[in-house]
Amino acid sequence: MVDPADGFVPPVSLADFAALARAVLPPDVWDFVDGGSGAETALAANRAALDRVAVLPRMLAGVDDPSTEATLPGGRAALPVAVAPMAYQRLLHPDGEPALAAAARAAGVPYVASTLASTPIEEIAATGATVWFQLYWLRDRALVADLLDRASAAGCAAVMVTVDVPVLGRRLRDARNGFALPPHVTAANLPGGRDDLAHQGTPGVSAVAVHTGAVFAPALSWADLDWLRARTPVPLLVKGILDARDAARAADAGVDAVVVSNHGGRQLDAAPASASVLPEVVEAVDERCAVLLDSGVRGGVDVLRALALGADGVLLGRPLLWALAAGGRAGAEAALALLAAELRDALILSGCPDPASARRLRTRIGG
Ligand SMILES: Cc1cc2nc3c(=O)[nH]c(=O)nc-3n(C[C@H](O)[C@H](O)[C@H](O)COP(=O)(O)O)c2cc1C
Repeated sequence: MVDPADGFVPPVSLADFAALARAVLPPDVWDFVDGGSGAETALAANRAALDRVAVLPRMLAGVDDPSTEATLPGGRAALPVAVAPMAYQRLLHPDGEPALAAAARAAGVPYVASTLASTPIEEIAATGATVWFQLYWLRDRALVADLLDRASAAGCAAVMVTVDVPVLGRRLRDARNGFALPPHVTAANLPGGRDDLAHQGTPGVSAVAVHTGAVFAPALSWADLDWLRARTPVPLLVKGILDARDAARAADAGVDAVVVSNHGGRQLDAAPASASVLPEVVEAVDERCAVLLDSGVRGGVDVLRALALGADGVLLGRPLLWALAAGGRAGAEAALALLAAELRDALILSGCPDPASARRLRTRIGG
């Protein structure tokens, strides 16, 4: 990817990977990754909210070589970061999930494997990465149990259940494009899961939405979460929480972490930016479980913002798909190395010896 002989300027920010990805991806795949739901209000709100978080740096702290290591559910990581679960990574690059998982391994961060991965969970785990399994709740409870058993047998270190997709948000770009998966990209972990539906292009309809509508169970409840908690010996994370009351209830249910997320602006378009509700959630769970944030994180300074608002870490989404598209495993490794360097600089500039101390920084909303 990086060849100065071609006059190529290596990315100096995660945002730089977007243009590289856009140049190589089919327009409908770009839209599938980039788009949000409805008028993309929640998508835009994520960035706007993070930009409004000013962090008060501490001076004279004597920090010259901060550690970026952090404690995440299940253990220590090189950064307070995990790779967000993202479906169908073979859309971006032929090497797909194993390439991104290998990059996560090299960076020392967990990789969250989606239920809708285009590679079997066993092959993803074979990269040696710390893999967390992301569960979408399926209509077929036996299939849910089977997926959990496979994830456990493959050595997944945590389970992350996504609770904000009773149905897919109305993603207008995908509908307009009549978006359907190409034949070589399949839901590799859902044998017999009506995969055919995701491949049938129809003008005005997203085939991915039709497919998830057929296989996802819309009415996930707290009783289901209790069932999942009881059968999950590894750390359990709940992704897609925005209301502090839900966060408190999840902590009561004994989860190890909540992920404050509006799904990158892809679900309820009226949802708030995840950064704007993070402080309420942190207060509501009151250290009973960890709190992670995603949606809109685009660099080390955003990680610092999340920590200063009280998060234990973040999930990084689209920038890693851009990097995967631009350069496969090497691209994703470059993006994660850049993020680590940015975070290190942000910690030095704010006088923090490590991510844990960044949680004691003060913030001002609005600059
Ligand atoms: C292309 C794409 C696919 C996604 N697939 C999943 C998924 O399978 N499971 C899930 O829980 N979240 C999924 N998400 C949401 C991400 O995990 C994460 O919440 C979101 O991307 C964070 O926002 P960001 O992209 O602005 O960083 C997906 C997001 C994108 C962009």
